[in-house]
Amino acid sequence: MAFITIGLLVVVLCGLSLLLPAFFGPPLVPANVTRIRKALKLAQLKPDEVLYDLGAGDGRVLVIAAREFGARAVGVELGPLQCLIAWLRAALMGLGQRVQVRLGNFYNADLKNADVVYVYATSRETARLAPRLKGQLRPGARVVSISADFATWQPAAFDEQGLIFIYQMPPQMGSLETFLWQRSGAKP
Ligand SMILES: C[S@@+](CC[C@H](N)C(=O)[O-])C[C@H]1O[C@@H](n2cnc3c(N)ncnc32)[C@H](O)[C@@H]1O
Repeated sequence: MAFITIGLLVVVLCGLSLLLPAFFGPPLVPANVTRIRKALKLAQLKPDEVLYDLGAGDGRVLVIAAREFGARAVGVELGPLQCLIAWLRAALMGLGQRVQVRLGNFYNADLKNADVVYVYATSRETARLAPRLKGQLRPGARVVSISADFATWQPAAFDEQGLIFIYQMPPQMGSLETFLWQRSGAKP
């Protein structure tokens, strides 16, 4: 009964979050779970590594990272409702010890202990995030971006189908074009 009540509450809150972004923060546009799994695989997320999801939404990335990859996952999310949903999702799955949800702005997040940073944002947001990621992430850390690339960095890997970009820190200057040239063996 408690599960049904919590489930109904989450459904109602999800609906409200779509209808009333002014009250609950930006609207939630979650990634497809198959795409998330592919992205985390491509980023080579390992057990006990620390993954940050910048803009954690409903917490699905955090749960997949913790449950399927054995990672410790931290979500940073601007919307209080999304935070509540993400926290409930992790708690109901018994992942409270491995998942943290922080209410806050990802432009101010402390990312120094991240091994992998996952971002599903717009090109404008990735451009604004780039200096912070470059300044804070340690060598060897990976950034995995869904849909939008980091325009001045050359990806270490790229999945065309899922539009998934992987960057290794420190970032190599370049772009998706330089990566594709290199991959094809052609000279720029
Ligand atoms: C496209 S959704 C991605 C959700 C989840 N990461 C996924 O891949 O399914 C983007 C999320 O970022 C959040 N967001 C947008 N700007 C933010 C900011 N400056 N700081 C923290 N969260 C932000 C939104 O509230 C939204 O939940």
